[in-house]
Amino acid sequence: MEPIYEGKAKRLYTTDNPNVLRMEYKDDATAGNGAKKASFENKGKLNKAITLLIYQMLESKGVATHLISDVDEVCLDVQKVSIIPLEVIVRNIAAGSFSRRTGVKEGTRFSKPIVEFSYKDDALGDPFINDDYARELGAATEEESRFLKQQALTVNEVLIDFFNQAGLTLVDFKLEFGRLVSNPSKIVLADEISPDTCRLWDSKTGAKMDKDRFRLGLGNVMEGYKEVLTRLQNKNA
Ligand code: TMP
Repeated sequence: MEPIYEGKAKRLYTTDNPNVLRMEYKDDATAGNGAKKASFENKGKLNKAITLLIYQMLESKGVATHLISDVDEVCLDVQKVSIIPLEVIVRNIAAGSFSRRTGVKEGTRFSKPIVEFSYKDDALGDPFINDDYARELGAATEEESRFLKQQALTVNEVLIDFFNQAGLTLVDFKLEFGRLVSNPSKIVLADEISPDTCRLWDSKTGAKMDKDRFRLGLGNVMEGYKEVLTRLQNKNA
């Protein structure tokens, strides 16, 4: 296995099969486009386990993902994709950059979910863009943008219910999609879904259970992630 890519929170290795990559979840965390850095013991393990549970559940609901199989504590085997350079963000409740940008108070529930795109480019700080930008940047055709939004809304409906059953409110989250290297016309959900990429609030107390504990310096970051995993596992038991 050769390492072929290292991101902020994951590392990718080649395998014997050219269409399959091994994805290793790291303990490293960054926030604010790399301005804040830290490492949390067990983060890789927890995020791998949470993503695995969620992607298996999404597959069972007919959402195509890059997941192939579980490998070990921190690795999954995934289909090799070429990542579409868009962060597809879904919001149910105002928080984070939405509240900063608009002044709308954190916690305000939207009448319908919001789907938005950011252009994946660290040097530019992942700017907010729309479908027309995506088309002109060559990131996604208009048809692909429509598909990404539709898939994101389907994932949102499934996840709201899934987290709800674990006593968690899904505030917002980020998805990434990729085109299969083995069949580029097929777009699948890639990357991860974990407390690194979702805002999850305790349904009763409103406590933040996700990476905002790190972003906002609230402490007990891994305790939040562990609680998310335990609740999802118990819900499935
Ligand atoms: P935001 O409010 O900072 O725009 O984030 C919205 C959601 O997307 C939140 O759940 C965190 C997630 N997200 C990522 O996973 N990676 C990113 O680079 C960004 C900007 C957001």
